[in-house]
Amino acid sequence: MTRFSVNDRPVEYRMDPETPLLWALRDASNLTGTKYGCGTGDCGACTVDIDGEAICSCLVTIAECEGRFVTTIEALSRDRSHPVQQAWVAEQVPQCGFCQSGMIMAAAALLRKNSNPSDAEIDAAMTNICRCGTYPRIRTAIRRAGRVMRGEERIAAAPPPGIRPADAARAVPALRTPHGD
Ligand code: FES
Ligand code: FES
Repeated sequence: MTRFSVNDRPVEYRMDPETPLLWALRDASNLTGTKYGCGTGDCGACTVDIDGEAICSCLVTIAECEGRFVTTIEALSRDRSHPVQQAWVAEQVPQCGFCQSGMIMAAAALLRKNSNPSDAEIDAAMTNICRCGTYPRIRTAIRRAGRVMRGEERIAAAPPPGIRPADAARAVPALRTPHGD
């Protein structure tokens, strides 16, 4: 059987039970925020939360997820209000962004257990690889998210994602908005 919970919804995948969770999430559930980097458990781009633990979804089969609770980056919060997301935006952590959903899921799992981790504890928990070298900003953002979770700091809400078509047209002359402005 391959019945379990994904982002608080019950699912049953009609796939080979040996299918890695990563591919069920991406291909069957269209939850493409979870990334494929190496497929061998080395990069952490595919990190999701399973029953409160940060797990590489490329290494877990859907059969092994039976009855468990899986949370992906899409459900960490509905409105980017999780302290880790707020701190990530405030500290402008991402560069290319490919590793970031895995980083955020690992950081959230760490802070849920320990909202005031030492540098050594952060380094031990954050084994994900970032080719862009955002590691210093990641440590800063984790410490800041911890302060938010401990009630010592508040971070203003991040602006909504996206760009208005008119703004895009101004920035890219080849684009035209429907009104031609
Ligand atoms: S894709 Fe899973 S650890 Fe790299
Ligand atoms: S932000 Fe580019 S790989 Fe981490």
